Amino acid sequence: MAAVVLVGAQWGDEGKGKITDYLAEKAEVVVRYQGGSNAGHTVMVGEQEFKLHLVPSGILYPGKLCLIGNGVVVDPAVLVQELDGLAERGIDTSSLRISDRAHLILPYHKGLDAAEEERRGQAQIGTTKRGIGPAYVDKTARTGIRVGDLLDWEEFRGKLARNLAAVNEMLAKIYDRPGYVLEAILDEYAGYARRLRPLIADTVHLVNEALKNGRRVLFEGAQGTLLDLDQGTYPFVTSSYPTAGGACIGAGIGPTKINKVLGVVKAYTTRVGGGPFPAEITGSIGDTLREQGREYGTTTGRPRRCGWLDTVILRHAAEVNGLTGLALTKLDVLTGIDPLRICTGYRYGGEIIRDFPASLKVLQQCEPVYEEVPGWQEDITAARSLADLPAACRSYIRRLEELAGVPVHLIAVGPRRDQTIVVEDVF
Ligand code: GDP
Ligand code: IMO
Ligand code: MG
Repeated sequence: MAAVVLVGAQWGDEGKGKITDYLAEKAEVVVRYQGGSNAGHTVMVGEQEFKLHLVPSGILYPGKLCLIGNGVVVDPAVLVQELDGLAERGIDTSSLRISDRAHLILPYHKGLDAAEEERRGQAQIGTTKRGIGPAYVDKTARTGIRVGDLLDWEEFRGKLARNLAAVNEMLAKIYDRPGYVLEAILDEYAGYARRLRPLIADTVHLVNEALKNGRRVLFEGAQGTLLDLDQGTYPFVTSSYPTAGGACIGAGIGPTKINKVLGVVKAYTTRVGGGPFPAEITGSIGDTLREQGREYGTTTGRPRRCGWLDTVILRHAAEVNGLTGLALTKLDVLTGIDPLRICTGYRYGGEIIRDFPASLKVLQQCEPVYEEVPGWQEDITAARSLADLPAACRSYIRRLEELAGVPVHLIAVGPRRDQTIVVEDVF
């Protein structure tokens, strides 16, 4: 039995899609367990680029069972569009199943997300406006509507009518915005219900059966550790649990079933949206990273903020996820930047902090402490083993491992499947 949880170790966009796709060659089941269409996972197959928001990144290998777990918030409009887009490109999506327990994103969740961001003004989170926060609010307030409700139209209508009464009052009185019309949403969602009905299943049972039968199961996290509702830079976080424990809750498996936790780490750091970012580079090297790394959001197209590798973050990620290995990505993007810097700690009020602080106020005042290390000039995109990498590049990896306290198992030196170095097999 092999169950591997793959998590983002930073602020998202670490290359989880590429690594999931790479591991999907051997995995038999791939499960998304949290988040929604705020995620944008890019997979390159040959020269073809796929951007996945809800469908697990295992879908590009034919015949893999792909599950959207109960912890995901599903926007059926996005899902249907994604399925159509994949079908147009000849991808078979018949092996996808959606949890009947997953919650639905409704049009008013997106409206409330935008309205609340506007109300926050200067303090806005910079959400993707995909309705994620409000959908999880409804889930925890116990007013959510679930994917399984699409199978019982009277149930769906009743819940929607009840919710709209409250939502429309809130929109009018708090946000001064127009409300939503019940019949319009019912019409739209009836189409999604027809379309998605054959895919709705008890994914909790499916994944547990797969594990019982010794199948190799990969849990594909979205977002990243620092966007985790509890472990991230609250309140500049998403509303779900991207950390490894989230896989248990969001897929419906026990923690005793997990064998390995792989943290995906970009060779530098990026963040999209607001909030503190100690190792951020504001000068021209930040622009170089953004251009060389093509650091623009997959979901929103926003430019990503760029910074040096921060190992305070990695130690935090190692702890809260119980990381057993790392997948290091985008190492090729650092080529030509010399010297490189690695953040080893934060200076705060005359002291050096090595653990990631909970307080945003403290974090905002933290000055990064850097170690300077030599860079390399060689193009490494054709490297297929550690020995193919320049000495300075290997030293950078070793230093990262030492400071994070976790060994590197995979190294990505380009976006394509074949641009991957295996140091130790994950499956
Ligand atoms: P995710 O959200 O974690 O799946 O990451 P994104 O797909 O949002 O962003 C990662 C971007 O980097 C995508 O455009 C990938 O194609 C690309 N990428 C992934 N790994 C590598 C790599 O090793 N080198 C380079 N140059 N690009 C990579
Ligand atoms: P993947 O899976 C990077 C960020 C948003 C914002 C905050 C809250 O592609 O790594 P939300 O819409 O979730 O309420 O926004 O979280 N964010 C991401 N940043 N990658 C993502 O997903 C993200 N999903 C959400 O930019 O700062
Ligand atoms: Mg992304």
